[in-house]
Amino acid sequence: MKTKHFLTLIDLKSEELHDLMERTRFMKNNMRSESHSKLMSGMTVALLFEKTSTRTRVSFEVATSQLGGHALFLAPGDSQLSRGESLSDTARILSRMTDLIVMRTSTQERLLTVASNSQVPVINAMSDDFHPCQLLADIFTFIEKRGSIRDANVAWVGDGNNVCRSWIHAASQFGFNLRIASPKGYSPDTKMLDLALGKATIIEDITTAVTGCDLVVTDTWFSIGQEDDKIKRKEAFSGYCVTNELMSAANSDALFMHCLPAYRGNEVTADVIDGPQSVVWDEAENRLHTQKALIEFLL
Ligand code: CP
Ligand code: NVA
Repeated sequence: MKTKHFLTLIDLKSEELHDLMERTRFMKNNMRSESHSKLMSGMTVALLFEKTSTRTRVSFEVATSQLGGHALFLAPGDSQLSRGESLSDTARILSRMTDLIVMRTSTQERLLTVASNSQVPVINAMSDDFHPCQLLADIFTFIEKRGSIRDANVAWVGDGNNVCRSWIHAASQFGFNLRIASPKGYSPDTKMLDLALGKATIIEDITTAVTGCDLVVTDTWFSIGQEDDKIKRKEAFSGYCVTNELMSAANSDALFMHCLPAYRGNEVTADVIDGPQSVVWDEAENRLHTQKALIEFLL
């Protein structure tokens, strides 16, 4: 049987993603059951992280331990990769000794290199291009709060980055409308929008994008690795802040999401992220539950 990987949200069929949402609900409600804690008995997960992380690392380590397995964390300086051993050789070795590889890295090509040299599933724990695990939690959180995301209106305010690209994938996979408001030069690639089957559109004016929405989402102005561009980006993104005034253009019961880490006063004000419409803490916790369902599916 061909090994299944999860490198983008479109690696799974739409039905499989919907099943994952159902399975997540079950896993979240049955965390203490005995079958739950034996799913990964005797198994090891390699966490190969070439970028910093709090939520992703912790949720995968805790998920593995709650499922009865062992997680092995490899930081950038910890393996022979840092001394020039090739990524393909590293992948071959990890895949001979572990049952699952979870990788956070720069380019999507690095993930593809690991996947093509691995006999065990590889999960994208975030690259410069995509963050599919984040979207599993975000979609689950919306469904948990509102019942369904089909035909909902979602506004993305800010950088057309890795998280935004995974939102575009999610729009076509889950059938909702995504409006993206980014500063000039920071919109996602139009080729990606073409693949979204009309479900994702660019709307220049941020108030127009948010008007009548069921969910407003944003992310940092400076993703990991963009620290040198801070001055230029700060200028480009000023005005792309989710404030209470902007939220008032959305539906009165609209939710607010942010993958975190957040920078209050930049992309979102403290009164929004810490206010009643924000679901960021459930969103973060749901990383744990959705990734357990994902691990079960891939193994
Ligand atoms: N949202 C998210 O992926 O957070 P970390 O960078 O802390 O893992
Ligand atoms: N876009 C952010 C997401 C962090 C979870 C980054 O790439 O740093």
